[in-house]
Amino acid sequence: MVLGLQWGDEGKGKIVDVLTPGYDIIARFQGGPNAGHSLHMGKESYVLHTIPSGIFRPEAVNVIGNGVVIDPATFAREVEELEKVVPQIASKILISKKAHLILPTHRILDAAQEASKGADKIGSTLKGIGPTYTDKTSRGGMRVGDLLSDDFAGRYNTIKTRHLAQAGQYAGDFDLAQLELEFFDGVQVMRRFTLIDSEQYLNDALVEGRSALAEGAQGTMLDIDFGTYPFVTSSNTVCAGACTGLGVAPAAIGAVKGIFKAYCTRVGNGPFPTELEDGDGEAMRKVGREFGATTGRARRCGWLDMVALRYAVMVNGVTELIMMKADVLSGFDTIRVCTGYSVGGQTVTSFPYEFTADMKPVYRDFRGWRREIGDVRSYDELPAELKEYIEYIEKECGAPVGIVSVGPDRDQTIVRR
Ligand code: GDP
Ligand code: IMO
Ligand code: MG
Repeated sequence: MVLGLQWGDEGKGKIVDVLTPGYDIIARFQGGPNAGHSLHMGKESYVLHTIPSGIFRPEAVNVIGNGVVIDPATFAREVEELEKVVPQIASKILISKKAHLILPTHRILDAAQEASKGADKIGSTLKGIGPTYTDKTSRGGMRVGDLLSDDFAGRYNTIKTRHLAQAGQYAGDFDLAQLELEFFDGVQVMRRFTLIDSEQYLNDALVEGRSALAEGAQGTMLDIDFGTYPFVTSSNTVCAGACTGLGVAPAAIGAVKGIFKAYCTRVGNGPFPTELEDGDGEAMRKVGREFGATTGRARRCGWLDMVALRYAVMVNGVTELIMMKADVLSGFDTIRVCTGYSVGGQTVTSFPYEFTADMKPVYRDFRGWRREIGDVRSYDELPAELKEYIEYIEKECGAPVGIVSVGPDRDQTIVRR
């Protein structure tokens, strides 16, 4: 398992790409094109939305599991882009027949629901994620396996009619004919791929001794159950989500690698206790290039939240931590970590049910380091202040930091053990 411990964009794409050579199979288990996973290899950069981040390594098989929601139009665009550099891409991706399809009208419904929320908007990526998962759980969705049905268009039209009635006036804001054109073109592209019962495939592979890495999307603080509800996404982003999203038993999950940034970011609305709306936050955004990989929105930035991180380690059963973007903090005189939330004269040190305006972060300060670290390739050569920061985090979380990432490139990675 590799998953995000914060509000997404921790650097999952980079790390999955780095780890892929050690695995036969890379599998996505939840989320959809709301995800944007960036990979940098020398001069080349890619952002993946639906396709697993193992796609650039020649040996790996990439599985899109049943827990994922797929927009055929986005999928086709991604395939078209990658085909230029990934030979025989159709032989490298297997798609679960049980994964659900995002229809054009799901995107319209997403926009309609956000608009109706007024000031309480989630800040959704508007990719149709919420309405697609809603249809899945209310037993009215379309699945990838329907692509093989003679009555695909008939089912599509029945659901479209229902959606348009629900969307009402908001449907008028969209060029549905154009969206449908892209959707049906995408459907044709998907039909070129092998559609499988991925739970059977994965379990057989594990019995044969092949290894698999599950790639999370979003992050623990965006989990539908454990995140900052209602400002979350519509799937289980936590480790347990891989069991339902891939059809593998809990006992089959081995190492759980939890990724976190050396600070925090969030895109979209909702609580973010350590958010910095000052020069420090601006510096993090600028140096860390904190702009959404899917929507281009500026990411909110703030100090590391240890209360939230410990909570994420707990609900995921993290066995190893991976620290990203340590390089972005080079140059800060003081590095701050939130160790609790002060409210009514008390300090809360466990993750609260909800955040209220009177909760203020309590900080512990660490000495910063001035040196650039992008070229460092061994843990011992990192600045002493950074090592002190890392060792504090390990102690607080009760898990070792196995990888420290010091830049966006594949090569800017320090593997410790
Ligand atoms: P994901 O959604 O978790 O895959 O993360 P994103 O790709 O959305 O966002 C992470 C961003 O940070 C991307 O632009 C990465 O290229 C970049 N990145 C990843 N690791 C590092 C790092 O160690 N240092 C710096 N400076 N950038 C990094
Ligand atoms: P990756 O995989 C960061 C956020 C949105 C919004 C909320 C709900 O790249 O880490 P949705 O589109 O799911 O209805 O949006 O979740 N969000 C993400 N934030 N990274 C992501 O994915 C995200 N996917 C969704 O901004 O606040
Ligand atoms: Mg991202």
